[in-house]
Amino acid sequence: MRVLLIGFGAMGGALLKGWVDTCEVAIVDPFKEDCAKTIDDLPADYYPDVAVIAVKPQILDQVMPAYAKFKHTLFISIAAGVSTQCFTKWLGDGIRLARVMPNLPVIVKEGACAYILNQYCTKSDKEVVEVLLKKVGIFEKLESEALFDAVTALSGSGPAYVYYLCECLEQAGVKLGLTPELAKKFARQTIIGSATTLKELPLEASQLRANVTSKGGTTEAALAVLMQNNSLQDLFFAALTAACNRSKELGAV
Ligand SMILES: NC(=O)c1ccc[n+]([C@@H]2O[C@H](COP(=O)([O-])OP(=O)(O)OC[C@H]3O[C@@H](n4cnc5c(N)ncnc54)[C@H](OP(=O)(O)O)[C@@H]3O)[C@@H](O)[C@H]2O)c1
Repeated sequence: MRVLLIGFGAMGGALLKGWVDTCEVAIVDPFKEDCAKTIDDLPADYYPDVAVIAVKPQILDQVMPAYAKFKHTLFISIAAGVSTQCFTKWLGDGIRLARVMPNLPVIVKEGACAYILNQYCTKSDKEVVEVLLKKVGIFEKLESEALFDAVTALSGSGPAYVYYLCECLEQAGVKLGLTPELAKKFARQTIIGSATTLKELPLEASQLRANVTSKGGTTEAALAVLMQNNSLQDLFFAALTAACNRSKELGAV
């Protein structure tokens, strides 16, 4: 399968790591070494089976129209917020398009990717999308495109929330007297270990939490602060709502 990657940044590079062994990948990115700078630098007879759109949403209206010449290519967009309708405008009516929302853990094949297909996609396009996504983690087909903003807010942006939690744990550990090195090492391993239990033990997150919260103990004391008046839950809802709204704004290009 010939895959053209348009944009070799954080997410394009992460996806490529999972695909490079099984696909023939060409890359277009204006400022990177060892790849085509623009679409015009690709060999004259080059024609991709699949083109993965991994540039920032804000520049899509300048970048996309040049790719309209690939009329028989399956386009896969990972751009946050940008609707299938926008791509029809840039690439032409009748293009086959999958919209995917990945997240950064695809880089370690632990991604969570949601996708939809437009009405022109075939059964074999679905298989192609699923083969590619399976290589980088779990995937789900969404019932409707309207759900993309919520998925973007939860899993697309989600890894950043966990990284921020890691930073917060580390800083609190230092304030309590640990060396920065120890606080960093233990904050990170606590998140890695907890994530692994979520993956490997067949228990709900709430059950895992209950299992480590003994009555009158230290964890209970900390959770009483975190869960007071549902304040952390409300904060997460506000944060995800902000991400969801931003996803909608980005879609209005
Ligand atoms: N990062 C995430 O966690 C995440 C999650 C889900 C979805 N996404 C989506 O993934 C897409 C890429 O995000 P990202 O975080 O990977 O951004 P990024 O790191 O900025 O990557 C975009 C890449 O595209 C390059 N580029 C700029 N103009 C180009 C052109 N005309 N043709 C080809 N490439 C061009 C950029 O080069 P320069 O840097 O030199 O400009 C950069 O290397 C976005 O649409 C975003 O919404 C990202």
